Amino acid sequence: MHNKIYKSSILITGGAGFIGSYVVEELLRHEPAKIIILDNLIRGSFENMQAFIDNPVIEFIEGDVRDTALLEQCIAGVDYVFHMAALRINACAANPRVGFDVMLKSTFDVAELCVKHQVKKVIYSSSASIYGLAQHFPTPETDNPYDNQTFYGGAKLWGEQLFRSYKFMYGLDYIALRYFNVFGPRMDTDGKYTEVMIRWLDCISEGKAPLIYGDGSTSMDFVYVKDVAKANVAALLADVSDQAFNVGNCKETSLKQLLESLLEANNSTLEPEYREENTVNPVSRRLAANSKAQELLNFVPTVSLKQGLKELSEWYFEKKKIIA
Ligand SMILES: NC(=O)c1ccc[n+]([C@@H]2O[C@H](COP(=O)([O-])OP(=O)(O)OC[C@H]3O[C@@H](n4cnc5c(N)ncnc54)[C@H](O)[C@@H]3O)[C@@H](O)[C@H]2O)c1
Repeated sequence: MHNKIYKSSILITGGAGFIGSYVVEELLRHEPAKIIILDNLIRGSFENMQAFIDNPVIEFIEGDVRDTALLEQCIAGVDYVFHMAALRINACAANPRVGFDVMLKSTFDVAELCVKHQVKKVIYSSSASIYGLAQHFPTPETDNPYDNQTFYGGAKLWGEQLFRSYKFMYGLDYIALRYFNVFGPRMDTDGKYTEVMIRWLDCISEGKAPLIYGDGSTSMDFVYVKDVAKANVAALLADVSDQAFNVGNCKETSLKQLLESLLEANNSTLEPEYREENTVNPVSRRLAANSKAQELLNFVPTVSLKQGLKELSEWYFEKKKIIA
């Protein structure tokens, strides 16, 4: 039985990136007619697209979502849009004006052009950052965003609200997905939250004691990238619109537990060293409630932290070998 992806045309902004490249792989399993990837390769890469760049279904366009004329060429004629191009949280903080152009203005252009060209549905990559430190754990989608202090979180929330208003005013169907801490092969090796995994993998390969700043109690909800890609496809396939969903693994893992799991995944007997915390992390806990995604999208994450860490370690050590 074919579903609505079969023979459809799809645009993925940011499709050469970490999560986007897995979304492309997941979509290809459903035999679309065409997938256009628009990415300026500021963070994405040909290496991420290795598995599919030669597939005739794929059209890769190296370009910027801030180029409205190019964006319109990409959107005209597609059935569905995954809007994933974005700057990282640190990049937004370092240069909010560029953050405005990429995260806000371009998202506005995407919404306008999707209405103009009668796109059937948009899947928008939002973030758990919209919550700041949430009020409840596990965090339901109904928690309020007033604790968020970041430009990035504010921009993501605005994007969600923009699509809501465009659904209300023009009937544009959309789903917003609030990813929690996404990890896996191809991940950012110097990101703000998940980067600690990479630093510890370096310690493991060099036989050095991994450092924990503070008492290691800060927690995150680590969700494997292939599960996030599946959530994206589920969001497109479900006959659901005008909703935001958490995408997490629904397991709270402290940094201390994360390190233990990473050491175990690599059969390492290294002992951590504790250092005084030098920065204050305003978001000390993350834990998603996923029941809404389970009920309405039929999405349940399937990859355990342990399995994911094994795959991440293999990828990273192989990458290090190639670079060395
Ligand atoms: N990784 C996470 O843990 C996480 C968590 C929450 C939300 N998100 C969101 O998920 C989406 C994908 O994130 P990711 O982790 O794959 O990051 P990523 O940086 O690997 O992917 C973003 C892609 O967008 C591209 N891009 C950036 N600016 C662009 C521009 N002006 N024009 C065209 N392309 C541009 C980059 O080159 C990159 O390939 C983003 O919207 C991100 O904000 C990610």
